[in-house]
Amino acid sequence: MSVFLVGAGPGDADLLTLRAAQVLASADVVVHDRLVGSSVLELIAPETLRIDVGKIPGESTSQDDISDLLIELSQHYDSVVRLKGGDPFVFGRGGEEALALSRAGVEVHVVPGISSAFAGPLLAGIPVTHRGASHGVCVVTATAEAGSRVDFERLANPDITLVILMGVSRRRQISQELLRGGLDAGTPVAAVQSASTDLQRVVRGRLDELADLDVASPAVIVVGRVAALQLGLRDVVADLVASS
Ligand SMILES: C[S@@+](CC[C@H](N)C(=O)[O-])C[C@H]1O[C@@H](n2cnc3c(N)ncnc32)[C@H](O)[C@@H]1O
Repeated sequence: MSVFLVGAGPGDADLLTLRAAQVLASADVVVHDRLVGSSVLELIAPETLRIDVGKIPGESTSQDDISDLLIELSQHYDSVVRLKGGDPFVFGRGGEEALALSRAGVEVHVVPGISSAFAGPLLAGIPVTHRGASHGVCVVTATAEAGSRVDFERLANPDITLVILMGVSRRRQISQELLRGGLDAGTPVAAVQSASTDLQRVVRGRLDELADLDVASPAVIVVGRVAALQLGLRDVVADLVASS
């Protein structure tokens, strides 16, 4: 009995790893989340059973139910793939599923994915670290589990880039806490929405404007000097397609 925990990358199927594409192509069943890109889902063979466990925001299947489903499926199919957006272990609850599976005696194989935390900024021309601008990066969620909260005041550090996931609805509170923590009101911020998809949008501003930035979920928010950079990078895949 085994399950593959596979990272689907930020959205565009071209950003899937070769291993992920191979595992998907030979899957008997794929259990996937809402944020898996449609071009990735198109790679699943028509005869493969596909189960969407994250269709409606706020009404998605509970984590325990998903783990139970994977355990059950592993008893009936040779190749069960659990497909998650980005990297399964970056705010993807991959750890919880891996633990539940191994406790049930199911072997777990992992295929890392490109996380939106890094791909998002880069596809907007923002390097998360840059000599002279930032000597580190902190990837953080704005949505901690019930009963705890992320203390952004303590994360205020002008020399470090903050990459914030699941932060769109909390951007007012995030900016207030970072300002209270001592970050300058003029600190550059950027939000990259639907990175790597046809809907990708980038909005930029200052920390004291973060609350009013015109952005919707899913988006990664970048706070720090690098957010002012726009390296004019071209997407290698787009170039290859254009020249072929
Ligand atoms: C539950 S977390 C999953 C993160 C995922 N495991 C990863 O590594 O990218 C969902 C959040 O990831 C971010 N996200 C995922 N895909 C994105 C994309 N294509 N563009 C921008 N942000 C994205 C958003 O902050 C979203 O609210």
